[in-house]
Amino acid sequence: MTSAKAGGEHRDTFTRNSGFIFAAIGSAVGLGNIWRFPGVAYESGGGAFLIPYLVALLTAGIPILFLDYAVGHRFRGTAPLSFRRIKKPVESLGWFQTGLLFVIGVYYAAVIAWALSYFFFSFKQSWGEDTATFFVEDYLKADEPGVSTTLVGGVAIPLVVVWLAVLVVLALGVAKGIEKVNIVFIPLLFVAFAALVIRAVTLPGAAEGLNALFTPHWDALTDLDVWIAAYSQIFFSLSIAFGIMIAYASFQRRKANMTSSGLVVAFANSSFEILAGIGVFSALGFFAYQQQIAVGELEGLTGPSLSFITFPAVISEMPGSAFFGALFFGSLVIAGFTSLISLMIGVSSAIQDKWGLSRRTAAVSVSLVCGLISIALFSTTSGLFTLDTVDNYANNIGVVTSAILMSVILIWVLRRGDMLRRHLNAVSTFKLGKIWLGLVGVVAPVFLIIMLVQRAYSVIVDGYEGYPTWYTTTFGWGSVILVSVAAVLLTLPSWKGRDDPDTFLPWPPLPEDVRGSGPHARKETVR
Ligand code: PHE
Repeated sequence: MTSAKAGGEHRDTFTRNSGFIFAAIGSAVGLGNIWRFPGVAYESGGGAFLIPYLVALLTAGIPILFLDYAVGHRFRGTAPLSFRRIKKPVESLGWFQTGLLFVIGVYYAAVIAWALSYFFFSFKQSWGEDTATFFVEDYLKADEPGVSTTLVGGVAIPLVVVWLAVLVVLALGVAKGIEKVNIVFIPLLFVAFAALVIRAVTLPGAAEGLNALFTPHWDALTDLDVWIAAYSQIFFSLSIAFGIMIAYASFQRRKANMTSSGLVVAFANSSFEILAGIGVFSALGFFAYQQQIAVGELEGLTGPSLSFITFPAVISEMPGSAFFGALFFGSLVIAGFTSLISLMIGVSSAIQDKWGLSRRTAAVSVSLVCGLISIALFSTTSGLFTLDTVDNYANNIGVVTSAILMSVILIWVLRRGDMLRRHLNAVSTFKLGKIWLGLVGVVAPVFLIIMLVQRAYSVIVDGYEGYPTWYTTTFGWGSVILVSVAAVLLTLPSWKGRDDPDTFLPWPPLPEDVRGSGPHARKETVR
């Protein structure tokens, strides 16, 4: 096991900076990049969407990514431990974030299981002519929103495989598990996906697809919803305010160039997103061309319908269907899996930190519990609806709340902003000016609050997707409430972890830590 012994701590660490960067990219690049970005951009102003997107990236995405890094790197713990070290009661915010990881992880795994099945279906295009009926009725055997106990074998079996793979990676830990998997899979993903994009842009009709995606509709810029879409895409996509980046930063060595790595991660994630937009819309242009219709007349351009209904139909039309189908669904599996392991290590390492469990015990218990819940809820005939509902509430309400709380508590209530900024500057080459404080303390939370009010209002007034109210209340609000209650309950037990939350030495010492003969007066060796 690789542990940084600095300050007598017992953390698993990345063996090199590139390991951290690849792992962070692995977490960021996921299903959201492939199935969400292209459709959202198309619906929210096309080429003009790049403006709110870039603004959101620069004013909230990167600043909050740095905030996550600063917390985890300075306080050297997963979200609950780091926040507890900042101030005792704030530990519950850490559990709130960990709870969201759990909720998202259990359904995210199901989508990877679908993609795994579709990878195999690609070889013979088993989805046939009517891909919508195949997906909903033949594959998922979806009936109606409700609580079904009828398991669907075609989903349950790949789902078991996904959870076993998660178990193995978690048990191997940070250096041998997460780091290795990402160093192999992320470059592979970029190459496979680039091949797919090159094929797509050379298909007839591709130009029409790209025109549909990139023609700017400037009037969209005056629409608040478009701005909200941009901010929410950036949050989900960069995996920020979930506690994952806090945990990853805590696995970094103490001397690590944090902000420069963050810029690499953010740039790689957005590049992949734009690459996916180009690939997906070229393919859609080709598909529309085959049917002699305009791209605008196509349906199902985002989310699960894009990947599992529209895309299979496109793939069947492409020359070399089997190969490109396998490439597309293989990419989806890899992108999703590297994100899933980040979600799950967020959960298992938080438990390890608090209860001092061994890595293996934590890995087995987390994979077992999450796996069983995931199978019970999402591989039944009502799985599709539950997934859709939980996804909407956990993301639109949960994560936004978490980001607002983090910014308000750290910057305004506890006034730790400047200290965190100086911490990052002390270890990094890309220095943050005071403007960073303005972004994380004012611009980002203001936007997030507007977003939360709008989202909450819309689900309260209009419900969601016309699902019955009891259903959205149970699964949608239910998951948010469950996470909030867990946040409080998990804070109550005392710490049994190996790294004591109370006698902790932050490094490097900043003026506020060194008080006379304080602990920093002692000489430390730091790796
Ligand atoms: N960023 C991932 C994606 O784009 C999803 C994710 C969200 C992963 C939150 C981890 C945490 O799909």
